[in-house]
Amino acid sequence: MEHCQIGFIGAGNMAGSLIGGLIADGYPSRQIHVADIDTGKLKRLQQRFDVHIHTDNEAVVRACDLVVLAVKPQQMRRLAREIATAVRERRPLIVSIAAGIREADLERWLGGEAAIVRAMPNTPALVQSGATGLHANAQVSARQRDQAESLLRAVGVTVWVDREEQLDAVTALSGSGPAYFFLLMEAMQKAGIELGLPPTTARLLVEQTALGAAKLALEADADPGELRRQVTSPGGTTERAIAVMAEAGFEEAILRALRAAYRRSQELSKQLGEDE
Ligand SMILES: NC(=O)c1ccc[n+]([C@@H]2O[C@H](COP(=O)([O-])OP(=O)(O)OC[C@H]3O[C@@H](n4cnc5c(N)ncnc54)[C@H](OP(=O)(O)O)[C@@H]3O)[C@@H](O)[C@H]2O)c1
Repeated sequence: MEHCQIGFIGAGNMAGSLIGGLIADGYPSRQIHVADIDTGKLKRLQQRFDVHIHTDNEAVVRACDLVVLAVKPQQMRRLAREIATAVRERRPLIVSIAAGIREADLERWLGGEAAIVRAMPNTPALVQSGATGLHANAQVSARQRDQAESLLRAVGVTVWVDREEQLDAVTALSGSGPAYFFLLMEAMQKAGIELGLPPTTARLLVEQTALGAAKLALEADADPGELRRQVTSPGGTTERAIAVMAEAGFEEAILRALRAAYRRSQELSKQLGEDE
């Protein structure tokens, strides 16, 4: 990634992961600026990564070519209005990682005409294994798209979507997705215990199986359906288990769950975008 000045407003978990990822990729720490209202968080980041720290959000905007807005969605409207003048003057690329905040709402709060990339990462970004959906508004140049993509690639894989509304599907799939896998892991662990395994053994087996299955799926040419068929021998244990899952409506439940998450994402975006 070309080494422009990158700013972060909000020094929470996500900003910390992105900064850690950038520095691990060789990004110069002295070209990273961070602001937060909590000076304790700022000092910890400075000690850990030797980045510039600020308590003035506008100072970060004025110093940077790319500014990541990494505050909670409910804090975004206030923050955007606070930095609007500096954004109009400096015209940096704004990358918002706040779940549910639509580009048009953010642009309106920023006073119009801002280059905005909206990113929807997920929690495995905290361990550099995230999956992020990205969308850019019409003001974003090809160079700025590359910059945003490189930034998010520092914490995992990235995919661009053509229409911003598709980020609601990304939210339902990968945004909320880690929790679906945790639920499956929780249920498998309970079942393992019920079948007589010690809790620590059941947990380790489940966690390593989830990791192994994900690695196989990522590395194999075959899709997950094909991989499943390959390990399902006729008359065997896997076949018996999968038949029970199918009978219980497993696929239908997943489809209904994702549709519900999708609708909820649309509702939340609408609420978050309302002016007070
Ligand atoms: N964590 C994830 O895995 C994840 C995944 C997907 C998307 N996201 C998105 O990423 C964003 C950040 O999440 P996070 O977990 O990193 O949140 P977080 O830990 O709460 O970090 C946000 C930080 O910003 C500070 N802040 C709030 N208002 C501010 C302002 N006006 N100026 C400067 N700093 C301000 C907060 O201070 P206070 O604590 O004092 O309010 C807090 O330190 C959220 O919008 C979330 O939707 C996170």
